[in-house]
Amino acid sequence: MTKFDINTKYRMNSGYEIPVLGYGVYQTPADIAEEVVAHGIKVGYRHIDSAVGYRNEETSVAGMLKSGIPRDQLFFTTKIPPGQLGYDNARKHVNDTLQKTGLDYVDLYLIHAPYGGRKGRLDAWKALVEAVEAGKVRSIGVSNYGVHHLEELEEYIKETDKNEGKGKGGVLSVNQVELHPWLARKDIVDWCKARGVILEAYSPIVRATRANDPLLVPLAKKYNKTTSQILLRWSLQMGFVPLPKSVTKSRIEENADIYDFELSEEDMKSLDTGVYEPCAWDPTTSRD
Ligand SMILES: NC(=O)c1ccc[n+]([C@@H]2O[C@H](COP(=O)([O-])OP(=O)(O)OC[C@H]3O[C@@H](n4cnc5c(N)ncnc54)[C@H](OP(=O)(O)O)[C@@H]3O)[C@@H](O)[C@H]2O)c1
Repeated sequence: MTKFDINTKYRMNSGYEIPVLGYGVYQTPADIAEEVVAHGIKVGYRHIDSAVGYRNEETSVAGMLKSGIPRDQLFFTTKIPPGQLGYDNARKHVNDTLQKTGLDYVDLYLIHAPYGGRKGRLDAWKALVEAVEAGKVRSIGVSNYGVHHLEELEEYIKETDKNEGKGKGGVLSVNQVELHPWLARKDIVDWCKARGVILEAYSPIVRATRANDPLLVPLAKKYNKTTSQILLRWSLQMGFVPLPKSVTKSRIEENADIYDFELSEEDMKSLDTGVYEPCAWDPTTSRD
């Protein structure tokens, strides 16, 4: 059996570790985030995925910290809002996050989406690199980047390292994209895996729209698991970091109970649908 448990971590290009299961808080109202995040931590999650745009950074962090678990065993991600790239905006968002949450540092800060043009993207990246140098952020990455956005960034990092000194261009640790059997994004996945960039899988249970899917139901029966658990296990076995979201305590627990079975190679293959069916937005294809 592939050795995973709720404490498994991957090492990122930054050198820091990331827990392989995250807990997403998109559309979690700020006034309940503290309670549901605290429940997630109680049942074993150590990694919270928020964003400035989710408007719940403050209460999510409060829920995470009230567990009393040492800060260095917890992992908090947030993101520069879509359409608000550029150097000044990015700098301001990093400082605002620290001020609002009271954290000394953010574990992972992402550019939420590539919208904003080449200059906007690269200037926001530069501000994130400086935030790492200043100790405000540990690791940095992107979200919703297609291969052409990733190549633009890689080229910038190489050029900057060449002109200003090694490391000055920053280190890309993560690309967070929608990933599940109906959107396996082989091009983006191959690009990231070849460079050690961690793939975080958002909407890993396809927003609960596939609960009765004929591909999943027999697998759920065979392994005595729910269809959500089959999808999360697929994500782990693909080498991704899934970020399921739920505000329902029983589901928060269900989504973390994925370490006592393994999908066979054949069953993994049966989920290789080859189709392109996003359930969320898809900025990876944007060309601006
Ligand atoms: N970077 C980006 O652009 C981006 C975009 C989307 C999402 N994300 C991140 O990824 C996280 C997850 O994505 P998502 O929220 O779009 O989709 P998701 O996790 O695939 O699905 C969440 C939905 O499924 C329901 N659900 C959760 N567990 C379930 C279970 N075991 N059985 C049945 N239903 C279940 C939830 O309901 P209840 O909450 O009512 O239980 C909620 O309606 C987000 O919270 C966010 O952190 C990032």
